[in-house]
Amino acid sequence: MAGGALVSSGNGKQFEGKVTAFVLVTCFVAAMGGLLFGYDLGITGGVTSMEPFLIKFFPGVYKQMKDESGHESQYCKFDNELLTLFTSSLYLAALVASFFASTTTRMLGRKASMFAGGLFFLVGALLNGFAANIEMLIIGRLLLGFGVGYCNQSVPVYLSEMAPAKIRGALNMGFQMMITIGILVANLINYKTANLESGWRISLGIGAVPAVMLCVGSFFLGDTPNSLIERGQTEAAKTILQKIRGIDNVDEEFQDMIDACEEAKKVEHPWRNITQPKYRPQLTFCSLIPFFQQLTGINVIMFYAPVLFKTLGFGNDASLMSAVITGGVNVLATFVSIFTVDKAGRRILFLEGGAQMLICQIAVGSMIAIKFGESGDGSFTKGEANLLLFFICAYVAAFAWSWGPLGWLVPSEVCSLEVRSAGQATNVAVNMLFTFAIAQVFLSMLCHLKFGLFFFFAGFVLIMTIFIALFLPETKNVPIEEMNQVWKSHWFWKKFISDVPTV
Ligand code: BGC
Repeated sequence: MAGGALVSSGNGKQFEGKVTAFVLVTCFVAAMGGLLFGYDLGITGGVTSMEPFLIKFFPGVYKQMKDESGHESQYCKFDNELLTLFTSSLYLAALVASFFASTTTRMLGRKASMFAGGLFFLVGALLNGFAANIEMLIIGRLLLGFGVGYCNQSVPVYLSEMAPAKIRGALNMGFQMMITIGILVANLINYKTANLESGWRISLGIGAVPAVMLCVGSFFLGDTPNSLIERGQTEAAKTILQKIRGIDNVDEEFQDMIDACEEAKKVEHPWRNITQPKYRPQLTFCSLIPFFQQLTGINVIMFYAPVLFKTLGFGNDASLMSAVITGGVNVLATFVSIFTVDKAGRRILFLEGGAQMLICQIAVGSMIAIKFGESGDGSFTKGEANLLLFFICAYVAAFAWSWGPLGWLVPSEVCSLEVRSAGQATNVAVNMLFTFAIAQVFLSMLCHLKFGLFFFFAGFVLIMTIFIALFLPETKNVPIEEMNQVWKSHWFWKKFISDVPTV
């Protein structure tokens, strides 16, 4: 089972309890938040390549795309600031919302944040589905962004707190699994709606369905025991803990939660805390892991695969179909990580994934360079197109068992309780900031860097793989509170904490 590093509780003990159906159903409903996030990640690319959508909202892009006069290079067909803003505005809104969400999650509870997230998603999806003008489209998109901010902030916390310690890691990766399923479902829906006159309305509006499920579900969900204790509802906290563990005697775990809460309350300035030298490793990983995760270039594929495939000469259907294939590979490869992360460890997944991504990016960049060159005029034969698709799939698979799930798992497991909230907020904010940045600049980067874009990301993959090799100690099966030992015996990090006594 994944998550060995999280198997022990906050104080290293093991607590009794079963994996109850109640906790699994509860976590499934909560993980809907991941599905919604994934749906938004996956739906946009297909929609922005649908002609009726472009004609209605982005006629300039449509004209540019149809312009065969040769003024525009193939690489620049889709480069339009408004179109990019449509994609990227969501992540900027999510970044802003994640700060508000952390306060809501702390003061009103996890379930309140999830409910709010679901509601934002619902209204956003409806506004988008019924959009009559660009304003409705962008406002809907911003609301979806608030939904992502609220859900990404609260769902992982909710899952970790509800889960029995021994499957906490697996449930943590369950969030990423739901993200990938959301992306795949979105790709499939786009594939079906692509040739319908108002297919884009269906694609955008259907997001309302899981949003309703999350809203209704989270309305009936119980809050986590930790959150209830935090808000002074101690009795209710104990009752829910008994229910989720399926046993009456939860005293030891309950006491542990009360102690942890008392400890956490002593920290008045979590933000100032995390900047102290002894937390340098945590601050580094919580900022650099999400930064590097985005600089793998994965969202170029997730957002723009259909546009990219179209640019490279795949037909309408073929490009969406290819996006469905990459979406399927993304889901399947995530299982590899779930089943190996606690046996093989984090480092090996990061290193293998990095090497594989690097090879694939160089291969894709080279193929495009040879066929399309500087001018962007060219085309692939069927065989070449299939080879290109193979490399893109191998790249997505490598991401899906390395930087995808580990990008969320590692920052959450390296932080001790007193800096966990600040660390997690940093992780979400940096992730959203660079998701936004990549979404915003990709089309114009493709236009200017051309095939060099793939070498640009390959360069970053090389840097991040070296970074992991040098700086990330293995954290598999290390209880969270023992993490100080790991830093202490690391050649680089030991100088920051060598004089700090371990807890
Ligand atoms: C990343 C997303 C990405 C997704 C792909 C997530 O871990 O945060 O940006 O689109 O993986 O599966």
